[in-house]
Amino acid sequence: MKTMPDATEIAPGIHWVGALDPALREFDIILRTANGTTYNSYCVRGEHGVAVIDTVKASHADEFFARLEQVARYDEITTIVLNHLEPDHSGALPELMRRAPQAKLYISAKAQLMLKALVQTDTLAFEVVQTGDAVDLGGRTLRFYSTPFLHWPDTQCTLAAEDGILFSGDAFGCHFCDARLFNDRVGDFRFSFEYYYQHIMRPFREHVLEALDLLAPLPLRVIAPAHGPVLRDAPQSYMQRYRQLAAPLLPNEIGAGTRSLLVFYISSYGNTARMAQAVAEGAESEAGVRVSLYDLQSSAGLPFVDLIEEADALAIGSPTINGDAVKPVWDLLSSLAVIKVCDKLGAAFGSYGWSGEAINMIEDRLRGLKLRVPIKGVRARLIPTEEELARCRDLGKQLAQHLTGNLERRVISMSELLAQESSHA
Ligand SMILES: Cc1cc2nc3c(=O)[nH]c(=O)nc-3n(C[C@H](O)[C@H](O)[C@H](O)COP(=O)(O)O)c2cc1C
Ligand SMILES: [Fe+2]
Ligand SMILES: [Fe+2]
Repeated sequence: MKTMPDATEIAPGIHWVGALDPALREFDIILRTANGTTYNSYCVRGEHGVAVIDTVKASHADEFFARLEQVARYDEITTIVLNHLEPDHSGALPELMRRAPQAKLYISAKAQLMLKALVQTDTLAFEVVQTGDAVDLGGRTLRFYSTPFLHWPDTQCTLAAEDGILFSGDAFGCHFCDARLFNDRVGDFRFSFEYYYQHIMRPFREHVLEALDLLAPLPLRVIAPAHGPVLRDAPQSYMQRYRQLAAPLLPNEIGAGTRSLLVFYISSYGNTARMAQAVAEGAESEAGVRVSLYDLQSSAGLPFVDLIEEADALAIGSPTINGDAVKPVWDLLSSLAVIKVCDKLGAAFGSYGWSGEAINMIEDRLRGLKLRVPIKGVRARLIPTEEELARCRDLGKQLAQHLTGNLERRVISMSELLAQESSHA
C-alpha cells in the first residue's frame, strides 16, 4: 500500500491535495480515531483561475503545500474557499494567503467572526457567500450551499457544478486514513462513517435533514468530504444513510401524537424507587402520554440516549449520597451531549436523609442542558409518606399535562404553599 500519495486526480483538473495523519488516535478530545484521519483539501483548475477548497491542520501544512505545488503555482490561485473554519481545515489558511495574496477568500456569513478569532488578523480580504452564489473559474463554476450546523454554525458546501463534485466539508466525512483515498479502494470504513455521524452530526439532525433536502437533488458524481475517503462510488447512498440516521424513529412505534415521558431512577433502599413509581402512575393517568420507567442501576449499555432523543420529557430520581446525586445519574446526564434535548421538559425527585442536594443539582443540570423544568421537584425525607407520594403523582400528572397541553387550572392554597416551602427548606 502506497503511504504518501501525490496530489491525486479526482476529475481532469480537480485534485486532492490534502494531508494524511495516520498516527492520530484521538480527535478534538471526544473522538477515538483508531485509523487516524485525513485533512482533505482540493484544488480546482478553471480556464482563468485556480481554486483551493479547504486547507489542513497547521501541523500538516508542509505536506499540503508540497501536494498543492504539484498541480498549481501560487500566483495562479484566484479563489480560496473555506467550507467551515474549524482549525483542522483553516490551520494552513494564513500561510496559503501569504503565498497567494491575490486570491480571494470565500466564506459564509457566520464564519466572519470566527475568521477574525481564528486567524487573529483584521487584514484578510474575504467575500461572504450563501446558497445561490457562485464563482466562475472559466469553464468551471463553484456553487455554494449553506448547510449551517453540519457541524459548525458557519458550515457550507461547495459544488463544482459542471463536474458534479460536492466538496461537503465535514458532512459525509469520517476519520479514516487510507492512502488509497477513494471509497471503492480503501479498507472497510463503514464503522468510522457511522461513528463520525453519531458523535459529530447527530446533535444537529434537523439541520442534517434540511441540508439533505438542499443537496440530495443535485446530480452528484462524487462527494469529496473534508476527512476520510472520497466518495465516488455510489455517492447518493451516503446521503440516503444520513437520511436514515437523522430520521426520527419513535413516532413509528408509538403513534404520532402520543407524547413520551421517561422516568429514570436509582435507589439504595427503595425510597426513590417508590417515588419513581408514583411519578409514573401520576403521568399515566393523563391520556395520550406513554410513560416508561427505568432503573439506572446495572443499566450500563442500555440505549437510554436513543430513547431520550425521541422522548418529550424526562423525570430523574436520585437519592442524595454525600451531598450529591449518584454517579449513574450524572453518567446519564453527561451522555446527552450527542443529542438535541433543548426542546424537552425535565423534572427531578428523590429521597434524602438530611440535606437532599441531589434534586436541585439535577434540576440545575437539566436547565443547563436547556430543558424546561416547569414544576419544582419533589424531595422526601427517607421513607416517602403518603402525602409525599401524592406530590410525586401530582408531579407526574402535571408533567404529562404540560406535554398534552391539557393543563388544569389549579388553585393553590396558602397553606399548601407554606407546606411545600417548609418541606424544601
Ligand atoms: C453513604 C450515604 C451517604 C449519604 N449522604 C447523604 C447526604 O449527603 N445528604 C442527604 O440528604 N442524605 C444522605 N444520605 C441519606 C440517603 O439520601 C437516604 O438514606 C435516602 O432515603 C436513600 O434513598 P434511596 O432508598 O432511594 O436510595 C446518605 C446515605 C448514605 C448510605
Ligand atoms: Fe469540523
Ligand atoms: Fe473537520
